[in-house]
Amino acid sequence: MSKGLFITFEGVDGCGKTTQIKLLKEYFEKQGKTVLLTREPGAKGLGVKLREILLNYDGEVSPNCESFLFLADRAQHIDTIIKPAVERGEIVLCDRHTDSTVAYQGYGRGVDLDRINMLNDIATSGMKPDLTFIFDIDIETSMSRVGKEKDRMESAGVEFFKRVREGYLNIAKQEPQRVKLLNGSDKIEDIHSKILDIINKY
Ligand code: TYD
Repeated sequence: MSKGLFITFEGVDGCGKTTQIKLLKEYFEKQGKTVLLTREPGAKGLGVKLREILLNYDGEVSPNCESFLFLADRAQHIDTIIKPAVERGEIVLCDRHTDSTVAYQGYGRGVDLDRINMLNDIATSGMKPDLTFIFDIDIETSMSRVGKEKDRMESAGVEFFKRVREGYLNIAKQEPQRVKLLNGSDKIEDIHSKILDIINKY
């Protein structure tokens, strides 16, 4: 069976990844490839219900509980959507995945990183993205792009997002083969062509 490609997109809120995912989808589709665009949390079905809790629940949520909810969504997503699509030979473009839990729950909320890595491994049954793009922007830009209407995660505060950004920069340093760091403040067309260069080399 021909294997597809699994690419993930990461960064702090407002980093511009959604625009880039759409451009890349169009690029692949012009080449006649089948592309599945998906996201975490909440691609479909049960995941949409988990997303609703994760982004809008207004009571207390402990960091461990938050981690498990993101991980539960991921397990369902990998098993029912991502893995079958990659096995069909499709290109899966996923808006956020395992690195979000490392950056947000690990670096941001302070959950033990080894534990997060182990749980990510269980949730994905060891399936890893072929390539990951992290879009780096400063936190002032992130906050201004998010605007005033914030969801539960976006309301976590500037210090939290500084830790999340640090987390992403560390992930990029630790796994240069899989993870490619891009400047999210560059022009949209320039970022897109850098992504194409990386993918074509891959
Ligand atoms: P979303 O509206 O999809 O944000 P964005 O457009 O920035 O991707 O909201 C997802 C939020 O959930 C975002 O603030 C990041 C957060 N998140 C985690 O904290 N941990 C995770 O494992 C994932 C997948 C997302």
